[in-house]
Amino acid sequence: MTDSSSPIVGRRIIHLGTVGSTMDEAEALAAVGEPEGTVIVADEQTAGRGRAGRSWRAPAGTGVLCSVLLRPSVPPARLGVLPLVAGVAVAESLEAVCGLPCQLKWPNDVWIDERKVAGVLVTARSGSHTIEHAVVGMGVNVNVRWDDLVEGAISLRVATGRDHDRDCVLATLLARLDAGYRTFVASHGTPDLGPWRRRAALLGDDVDVLVGDVSRSGIVRGVDDDGALLLETEPNRAERIYAGEITRGPMRVGTSA
Ligand code: BTN
Repeated sequence: MTDSSSPIVGRRIIHLGTVGSTMDEAEALAAVGEPEGTVIVADEQTAGRGRAGRSWRAPAGTGVLCSVLLRPSVPPARLGVLPLVAGVAVAESLEAVCGLPCQLKWPNDVWIDERKVAGVLVTARSGSHTIEHAVVGMGVNVNVRWDDLVEGAISLRVATGRDHDRDCVLATLLARLDAGYRTFVASHGTPDLGPWRRRAALLGDDVDVLVGDVSRSGIVRGVDDDGALLLETEPNRAERIYAGEITRGPMRVGTSA
């Protein structure tokens, strides 16, 4: 039985120097039966992975780069909610650390001032009835200098004008993710998405969404309870999009960091 007072996320934290990707490390542990809650943290990645096949780059020692192994006992159909839960955890933790409001761009880019400060990548392995494991990867631009940021990105350092303690950011992030994850599991994958919706970026904006290699145009109307993007493609008709990339908005989104 799980002790409700001790954390799940961060039960075991493995700090590494330079790795290819913390996702690879966590997925390899998952394959050999590592229990849920283990976190892989790295100072530097040589092959950091972003969503949609992009890469994630950050100079060594400037960011929080971590992957969390989870084994959620919720129906696989609720997996689409987990990236939103993680996005909220990142947004809440950055707000707590730096005092600035964060927005969330579906599914889980974290913005400050309409620039990307953090990204979340979730990979999973599931059967028809159960999720074997999920890996939640999170990259936060903490002390990245302006010159080292890609277009459209920001760091906590640039946003606030001072450096931040990466260990403190990590600890806050893991605590928030733990709380969000517990609620996600306890609600059988149907947590209140109010904290996500309150931070939703691009609401009411005209956007293009790349779904596979097909582009859909419409107005962002929010997210459904299962994590789907609601895109109004015709007046009063919202399409539900489960996986895709918003490619037009206040900023062009073609960068990972
Ligand atoms: C995205 O916005 O495209 C998602 C970026 C996720 C980056 C993090 S950094 C730690 C973890 N390891 C990786 O290789 N990727 C994730």
